[in-house]
Amino acid sequence: MSLFMAKVRRLIVNQKLAKTLEYQEKLDDDVASRSDLFQCYWQSVEPARVKMKERMEWLSAAIDQKSVEPFLIHFSALGYHMTSQVADWITSAGQACLAQGYMELGQKLVKHAAHEDGHHELYRNDLKGLLAGYNKKHGAGLTADALIDMPPTPGVASYIQLHEGVISSAHPYAQIAIESEIELVSVLYGPMMIGRCVELLGFGILKQLSFVEDHTLLDVGHTTYNFKAMDAFLNEHPETLEPLIDAGRAAIRAYTQYLEDAFDRSQLAGQLSFEPESAQDFTVNTDRAA
Ligand SMILES: [Fe+2]
Ligand SMILES: [Fe+2]
Repeated sequence: MSLFMAKVRRLIVNQKLAKTLEYQEKLDDDVASRSDLFQCYWQSVEPARVKMKERMEWLSAAIDQKSVEPFLIHFSALGYHMTSQVADWITSAGQACLAQGYMELGQKLVKHAAHEDGHHELYRNDLKGLLAGYNKKHGAGLTADALIDMPPTPGVASYIQLHEGVISSAHPYAQIAIESEIELVSVLYGPMMIGRCVELLGFGILKQLSFVEDHTLLDVGHTTYNFKAMDAFLNEHPETLEPLIDAGRAAIRAYTQYLEDAFDRSQLAGQLSFEPESAQDFTVNTDRAA
């Protein structure tokens, strides 16, 4: 494909995601308009965000014509596990907040849980669509269930452990930091990822990017809501700053690792196929998770 066509595709995607790109531009102003405590949280987590940005830029450049479909297949299969328990995690964290007397945040979390339910089904459907195209092109017989049954990667395992740890800890309110950071990830990197995939595969791929596309737009509102909720909470309970910072950083690290895991699996795919037993040999570069 010519550079000109790639540019045209990017432009069309950017138009479609204009609301998200506008919010990206306003992000610094949004943060600057919030309290000193919120800004202290923001600055403390910023190095993890900067590191993620570097990795995402690297990833976007590394994904090419050969790896893009295997990457999306693994991204969706692992994404299924990243999201299948989300509504339960948020509800449990909310209930634990209520039990500890953090009434306002607890109620907000419990109410918000419903909005985050069923996302794993979006991933499963995306995966099925991707596999239909991949199987046809390569004469393969891969199934969504086989991909989903592959062992979890370090990024997925860390993400699950982080949620479970927060729920059972003395600081279940840290769920709001996890959500703030992860929903911001959709807003910051959704356009980049969609743009790269459309550039390589054309607009037809959007049908199999339903999770990313939905969230890139939807999570603009969720991010604003999360920031507001965390800002209010921090000012009512300044002693919670440190656990919030820890959870925010850990969420970004785990999510970055998940995306890198999907890429690493896409690199192995050619030699090892997608068979579940192949994943036993799967290792990741843990240096990158630091
Ligand atoms: Fe969501
Ligand atoms: Fe959301």
